[in-house]
Amino acid sequence: MKIDHVGIAVPDLEESIRLYEETVGLVVTHREEVSSQNVRVAFLGNPDTTGTEIELLEPIGEDGAIAAFLAKRGPGMHHIAFHTEGVGTEMERLKASGRPPLESAPRLGARGHHVCFLHPKHCGGVLLELVGGPL
Ligand code: CO
Repeated sequence: MKIDHVGIAVPDLEESIRLYEETVGLVVTHREEVSSQNVRVAFLGNPDTTGTEIELLEPIGEDGAIAAFLAKRGPGMHHIAFHTEGVGTEMERLKASGRPPLESAPRLGARGHHVCFLHPKHCGGVLLELVGGPL
């Protein structure tokens, strides 16, 4: 699977967008508020290619996984997302191999894509996301 994006937890979305624009020349390709996850997100990529992107995640309020992550560990890398067309099929395969995803079925993530997450305890300390096409 190819890396789709790297997720980074940030306390201030606008400040972090400026950082990636000014240091490495990325541009915002998508912005969204995912209220079910209590986050505001921005995807940034290279303006000339459709390569791997950066997903900045800013918490809305004090509830939710990103707020908890920031409180416990501070800003920084949160997850790596891999692209697959078959999220549901991959979830079954991973379940059978003893690495069950956190969700029991694909759920709706940012950009209207279906996603699931694999717990860091099954992935050498890194939270992994599988991201498919639009639902
Ligand atoms: Co993500």
